[in-house]
Amino acid sequence: MHIANLFETEPALREKARNLKAEPDGPFPILSAKIKLTWQCNLRCLMCTIWREPRTKGQAIHLPPDIVKQVLSHLKEKGLRKIHFSGGEVLLYKGFKDVVAFARSLGLQVNLTTNGTLITKDLARFFVEERVHTVTVSLDGPDAETHDRIRGVKGAFKATVNGMALMAARKLKKGRGPIIAVNTVVSRKTMDLLDAMYDLLCETKVQAWRILPIDTEIRSLRPTQSQWEAMFTKVPAWSHLLSRLPLDWSSERSGHRAEGGKYAGLFYGDRVCFAPWFNLFVDADGRVYPCCNGKQDMRPYGNLNEIPAPQALESQVRREIRYSMASGHPFPICDCCDDFLEENQAFHLLSMKKGVAS
Ligand SMILES: C[S@@+](CC[C@H](N)C(=O)[O-])C[C@H]1O[C@@H](n2cnc3c(N)ncnc32)[C@H](O)[C@@H]1O
Ligand code: SF4
Ligand code: SF4
Repeated sequence: MHIANLFETEPALREKARNLKAEPDGPFPILSAKIKLTWQCNLRCLMCTIWREPRTKGQAIHLPPDIVKQVLSHLKEKGLRKIHFSGGEVLLYKGFKDVVAFARSLGLQVNLTTNGTLITKDLARFFVEERVHTVTVSLDGPDAETHDRIRGVKGAFKATVNGMALMAARKLKKGRGPIIAVNTVVSRKTMDLLDAMYDLLCETKVQAWRILPIDTEIRSLRPTQSQWEAMFTKVPAWSHLLSRLPLDWSSERSGHRAEGGKYAGLFYGDRVCFAPWFNLFVDADGRVYPCCNGKQDMRPYGNLNEIPAPQALESQVRREIRYSMASGHPFPICDCCDDFLEENQAFHLLSMKKGVAS
């Protein structure tokens, strides 16, 4: 589901989108959502905070399946098209098949991100049968030594590559199946391995690749400006695989800003992020935000363990976040955010076509 395509084919949606800056409370469907089903994980990745978070006794680790279904039903009524399940590790979630099948029964596009180590033949079959749209598997290095060191568990690389092979084999047998995509988190130490990663992904016939700039407070782990500049010279050769660019590269200061962790470059200098209108994020504790990164800076709309989804979506907090955005006051985290740059570009182009600077 590409927002730019929706704007091409759905004039009513396009018109609503054009009015959002002037009328932040105007009607607009939540088109996409991400739900973290669980905080539980079987890996111990160096760059990930999820497994390190101290969870107090009694604190929720999983979002109950009935709450997942309630929010999906409500969002579907409100126009949802695409749901992304993530975690923690989604394949450890007890109700995993149940919530995927439910989302599919609503006609939603289902995507998921997994570390891939727990994909079995049975799950590979399930993904094809349920017509899951995209299974994104995380691979952070082109060989077992690198990947296992980053993922904190010996044997992770072998298990993940095996999981990908099981999915590819099932797809081959049935002549259809999910897009198999790969996420690679890139740091200063692993930037130079991307050539070898690219070769591996071509060999394994992966269909889409997303390079995720490492989100970290530790400066020395972030790729340097010259590493980003060298990487961007390879983008044209990799473009058939890259599903999107890892950061905004439109200004000559982009590389410098990326070295400082400001992956959005200057994108939000004079533009709005429309995620608070078209997207929703629910974490495994039940807290609801406009987007995954937003939880670092924003108050939640509410908690689905305490209030129903309609109440969370009508909260004053959601209203305030949208007004703040529309009046040109993004949040500090927005400068560091590599999410939704393409989607926001599609909104921005609409305003340009109308002759109004966004
Ligand atoms: C939090 S994980 C959850 C899904 C699953 N456990 C996995 O590893 O794919 C979602 C994505 O975030 C990525 N990720 C983890 N820590 C990150 C960080 N510090 N910066 C950027 N991406 C990160 C993971 O590699 C993965 O592709
Ligand atoms: S597998 Fe995913 S959730 Fe688990 S520690 Fe690694 S990045 Fe975090
Ligand atoms: S720029 Fe990123 S953090 Fe800011 S509202 Fe948009 S998606 Fe959320």
